[in-house]
Amino acid sequence: MAEPSVQPEAPPQGQVGHEHHHGHDHTAHQHDHHAHAEAGGATLPPGAHPSFMRTIQQRQRVKEKLSNVKHKIGVYSAKGGVGKTTVAINVAYTLKQKGFKVGLLDADIDCPNITMFLGMDDAKMEPVIPLKPLEKDGIVVASTAMLVDELKRPIIWRGPIVAKMIGDFLENTDWGELDYLVIDLPPGTSDSPLTIMQVLSLDGFIIVTNPQKIAGINSIRSGLMAKRLGAPVLGVVENMSSGQPSDKTMEVVKTLDTVLLGTVARDGKIAEMTDRGRTHVLEDAGISRQFQAIVDKILD
Ligand SMILES: Nc1ncnc2c1ncn2[C@@H]1O[C@H](COP(=O)(O)OP(=O)(O)OP(=O)(O)O)[C@@H](O)[C@H]1O
Ligand SMILES: [Mg+2]
Repeated sequence: MAEPSVQPEAPPQGQVGHEHHHGHDHTAHQHDHHAHAEAGGATLPPGAHPSFMRTIQQRQRVKEKLSNVKHKIGVYSAKGGVGKTTVAINVAYTLKQKGFKVGLLDADIDCPNITMFLGMDDAKMEPVIPLKPLEKDGIVVASTAMLVDELKRPIIWRGPIVAKMIGDFLENTDWGELDYLVIDLPPGTSDSPLTIMQVLSLDGFIIVTNPQKIAGINSIRSGLMAKRLGAPVLGVVENMSSGQPSDKTMEVVKTLDTVLLGTVARDGKIAEMTDRGRTHVLEDAGISRQFQAIVDKILD
């Protein structure tokens, strides 16, 4: 068994440093240690903390890097295992089928699953800056799993490193022109999904829930958190549904003052296709119809 690799001591919280950038010529870097520097157009007061400056400057660079992406949509839930990755992939493919240029970002750094779901486990990005997402079925896909050699070897990322890494990853990746970038967010309401949401400044969220009561409570929590970050909740998808949305799901919709985008039925074929690395909407007309309805509602 391979030894897990452990990250070296993490920088203090929020310190999104630039020590590991390669070959950047952004002028912002030259100001890193000057509290008076320009940060995203704003002049900060003397004495502003350098880590604060770096965070703002990195956000600005990420924003520039993603300036040709028209819509950034996060797929999120507070709870793991409810179907975020499944929904993110199928929404992305359905948007592509409608003729949009689509990218798919795996922002779940601890457990990146997108490559496995798409049957591209061994696909690796050229480790040069700028990183180029890989194409699959006409969609451009990027995941940190594409930079790591041994997928099965656990990489123990400490929280602040995750936050820093997603920023570094985003500011160094060239997506080109896209109509939609669909982002598979990590679960939880902790530091890492929070930072990713802030670094990305998403245009909207899709909240994935399932019919159970506990899922409803968690979904309300995730939705409220997303709202607090200022991104609109586009709506709720009830996954593993019996067909009719549960009372709990409708309560989530009401509490978040949003809409039900649709339901995806619990269906053994979904897990089975996932295991084979096949994309549901490409292979199953019934599943495709459910995602068509969801995407139509998103585009509404
Ligand atoms: N509607 C469904 N019916 C049956 N199985 C499903 C359905 N949706 C997802 N699954 C299966 O449930 C498992 C979890 O789904 P998925 O990985 O998409 O969830 P997740 O929210 O991304 O999980 P994580 O929090 O671990 O990232 C997968 O094996 C998937 O194939
Ligand atoms: Mg997932």
